[in-house]
Amino acid sequence: MKVLKESGFNAEKIVENGNKFLTANGYLGYRGTLDEFTKEECVGLNVAGVYDGVKGKWRETINVFNPFYLVAQADNIPLAARGENVLSHEISLDISKGLFDRKTTFNVNGATVTLECQRFVNAAEKTNLCSRAIISADRDMILTLKVGVDTDIWELNGPHFKDVKTEIGGNRIIACGVTQELGYSVKVYCDYSSPVEEFSGGFGIIKADIKKDEKFVLDRVAHVLLGKEESKFDKYDSAYKAHVNEWKRLWSAARIEIKDDDRAQFALDYSIYHLLILAPKGEYSIAARGLSGQTYKGAVFWDTEIFMLPFFLGTLPDCAKNLIKYRINTLPQARKKAREYGYGGAFYAWESQNGYDACSDFNVTDVFTHRPVRTYFKDKQIHISADVAYAILNYYNHTGDDELMFSGGLETILECAEFARTYSYYNHIKNRYELLDVIGPDEYHERVNNNTYTNYMFYLTAKRGVELAEKYACAYPERFKAVLGKLPENIIENLKNWLQKLYLPQPDANGVIEQFDGYFKLEDVGVEEVRSRLVHPNEYWGGSGGVATATRVIKQADVIMLFNLYPDLFSKEIQRANYDFYLPYTEHGSSLSHCAYALTACRTGDKSGAYKAFLDSAEIDLRGGGKQWAGEIYIGGTHPAASGGAWMTAVFGFGYRHKET
Ligand code: BGC
Repeated sequence: MKVLKESGFNAEKIVENGNKFLTANGYLGYRGTLDEFTKEECVGLNVAGVYDGVKGKWRETINVFNPFYLVAQADNIPLAARGENVLSHEISLDISKGLFDRKTTFNVNGATVTLECQRFVNAAEKTNLCSRAIISADRDMILTLKVGVDTDIWELNGPHFKDVKTEIGGNRIIACGVTQELGYSVKVYCDYSSPVEEFSGGFGIIKADIKKDEKFVLDRVAHVLLGKEESKFDKYDSAYKAHVNEWKRLWSAARIEIKDDDRAQFALDYSIYHLLILAPKGEYSIAARGLSGQTYKGAVFWDTEIFMLPFFLGTLPDCAKNLIKYRINTLPQARKKAREYGYGGAFYAWESQNGYDACSDFNVTDVFTHRPVRTYFKDKQIHISADVAYAILNYYNHTGDDELMFSGGLETILECAEFARTYSYYNHIKNRYELLDVIGPDEYHERVNNNTYTNYMFYLTAKRGVELAEKYACAYPERFKAVLGKLPENIIENLKNWLQKLYLPQPDANGVIEQFDGYFKLEDVGVEEVRSRLVHPNEYWGGSGGVATATRVIKQADVIMLFNLYPDLFSKEIQRANYDFYLPYTEHGSSLSHCAYALTACRTGDKSGAYKAFLDSAEIDLRGGGKQWAGEIYIGGTHPAASGGAWMTAVFGFGYRHKET
């Protein structure tokens, strides 16, 4: 498998490379930064599913203290990639085993010194990460290494820690702190393979003399522990062995070979790598930006259920189950949210932090006025509940896991359908139920009526939920009765009646389905025209005053995404007509968009369009692409949904076509 490499040091690429060279183990994520870097260079050790909020700011996942801070000097000359004495510099990521490596050579008063540091986040132990530094020179040298657990960390909405303390015990440096809001006590410690001296301010010094062409090796074995957690590894070599073995297992479950196309092969390998490093190690889920940092508050969106879950279903079903359990476990919060808005059923969090909706009422800040903009993602993106139900049904189709259905699965599906039923309005003139005032996947058009994606997704949630309920009523009457007991009275009858009259938008004479009521009446301009109207490059395109709002330009696949989830709902001709119609209006302002078009392109015979969109999805983090700003909000990081989309395109798109021929 190809190793990702980048030669030469370019300060402008520090943030991008932090994402691109990320290593993680589904629980801890360490950005692809250098040992001598600090918060200025966005060093981040991010923890999945552990949130903290500081008064007046957004709650987000925590970044914890950095155990791998190291600044080396040879004969008192600093060895840093930014220095003027650098002869060569390269970073690499071996995706076959999740190993990051940096190698820099320096001119130290005429001699050549090489600093190499390898690092991995242990795939076999969720709390462990290790690094090995190797320093050599072509003449005798005195080395001085400043090492420590850096507590001055990069945070978007911090500071998240109070009572921060560092101490030294033997060759171990320990940093502890308590999160401000929820009082999690976090301990990060690092064991060094050489004696640490002169401890002050959280940092220690390691000294060594090296002889010409000899190597000095410093192993660092670190742990991130919450509360009373413990960790078993204390040696680099044994940790590395376990880590590599686990990677072998992961790849043997997930590798896909592509013949005669090295570019596509690497892009797909790299996408799969980004999914494997997020495989959850318990009943928690995956954030929209994975473990690359605190962007998007470390929250879980529909990205996981719709774009990532299929990969885990196909490769690591236990992880898929964890993802499903996360939603089932957070059903109480979804019920609560529905009640708060005055509805029945379950309204899932648009930006879920363990079930709580982290999405703010003002999720964008205007670049001109610097004022918060009222956005309605949390209130109106109701399709999230249909997406959750779809995922559970998808899981069930793959596994036939009746146990899971009886331990919350069926209840969740029916509650999601019930939510839409109570959300809908009965239109007495047209004699039908309608879903009014919603936001579909295309977020540039807020508060629209009868969004095609939303209406169909809820229709199918209710239909499939009722069918399953009827199946269980016959096959397991007692167990089914117990589930029914937890649901509103007459739920099945009510859903059946509702299904008779829920409005489902139909294709027009050209086969095109209107994305929402009135969409066709919007200004008929393309993406480039709308882009040319931007006054500021980071301007938000949607909301009440965005450049796209009054036009047909959409942020991402919307109607098209429905076809991917239910490929038999409409004929291939209809799907193609919609693909041809919507593609020129699609900005792909969301990384979720390309793969949606790629999948439909595969089904409807646009081979070159499919290939291009596949690469756009699979290479997004390799190219450093994707929007970095929404108004004044930083939204950079990795894009695991696009990685999942690339996998789906390979398997359900190109793979399916291959089977056909
Ligand atoms: C997209 C959403 C997506 C979120 C997180 C937004 O830009 O419009 O569909 O869930 O990003 O990836």
